[in-house]
Amino acid sequence: KETDRGAYPYYMLKEIDEQPAVLHRIQKTYFAEDGSLKIPADLLAAMQKADRLYIVGAGTSYHAGLVGKRLFEQLTQIPTEVVLASEFAYDNPILSDHPFFIFLTQSGETADSRQVLVRVNNEWQAPSLTITNAENSTLYREATYQLLLNAGPEIAVASTKAYTAQIAVEAVVAKALGMARHISTAKNFNLNHELSLAANAIQAIVDEKQTIKEIAHHNLAKTRNAFYIGRGVDYFVALEAALKLKEISYIHAEGFASGELKHGTIALIEDKTPVIAILTQERTASHTRSNIQEVKSRGAQVLTIVSENLAKPGDDIVIPTISELLLPLVSVVPAQLLAYYASLERGYNVDQPRNLAKSVTVE
Ligand code: G6P
Repeated sequence: KETDRGAYPYYMLKEIDEQPAVLHRIQKTYFAEDGSLKIPADLLAAMQKADRLYIVGAGTSYHAGLVGKRLFEQLTQIPTEVVLASEFAYDNPILSDHPFFIFLTQSGETADSRQVLVRVNNEWQAPSLTITNAENSTLYREATYQLLLNAGPEIAVASTKAYTAQIAVEAVVAKALGMARHISTAKNFNLNHELSLAANAIQAIVDEKQTIKEIAHHNLAKTRNAFYIGRGVDYFVALEAALKLKEISYIHAEGFASGELKHGTIALIEDKTPVIAILTQERTASHTRSNIQEVKSRGAQVLTIVSENLAKPGDDIVIPTISELLLPLVSVVPAQLLAYYASLERGYNVDQPRNLAKSVTVE
């Protein structure tokens, strides 16, 4: 059964390992034999009328939305905002003339996200799309349009495959919408092929998980704090990477935009503080390299997660190079594994972290 843990000690590890298969399933679901995209025409027509996209989410889904902003803006040229459900539900936003709302929710039951959808339907009367793993869930039923992640049941409280699935489905929708709008970046982006490359890259990382286990043992077994840094989408992944680490290992972890370190957060760096830098974007990698030097000279123990094309001798975790737009699918995986092994090292129940629930149905 899909819900069996099999030989895995924890669901989280199983779900991390499933990510290549999840991407393949998304390819099967959303690409036709001839390579065309299977996105309902009425959904695309509604999205084409939008002058602004609003992505709504909580927790990991919000982080997937941040990556989605890049995908939508690059591939469709429609300005895109990403909002935290719990904030937006009580905000007084000045909406654009033709807003279109995209809800990201693994469970489809998050009360904060639902609260925004209630306003979208009743107050703003705007069209919406829910992207979810749960067919017939509340947010699935109440949105105008719906698409499924098809990630299979996610049981570990810390979300992994739903995050990568959300990014992949956002890419699919963005590509379809960009094509409909005749945007050349969308036309030239061979998403189906790139998703195959992403799946292979993730497979290569999970096949080498022993290395990551050792890094967790050496660097994360005892520390009280740890920081992830990056720029652009690497920063967005840093936020998700830090969330994973705090959720299940209880290490105080934060994700920082690496250029912001010098404006305050570098004060937190002490001797041996682990700082994990994510470098996958050519435009910003050299700047982040300078930030690495800054924290090193304050005593930080730096680890790098870097795409092969940008790697230098001494880098720690080198991930295969794929299209920059999709690299978050790959760069997050070592961070998921670091969190998993840090939690194990520290003797916690990985799947059932204290104080957290898989789906939060209170505001
Ligand atoms: C809970 C979970 C998180 C999840 C968030 C949003 O807090 O513990 O892992 O990211 O809810 O859930 P959703 O189902 O809306 O994606």
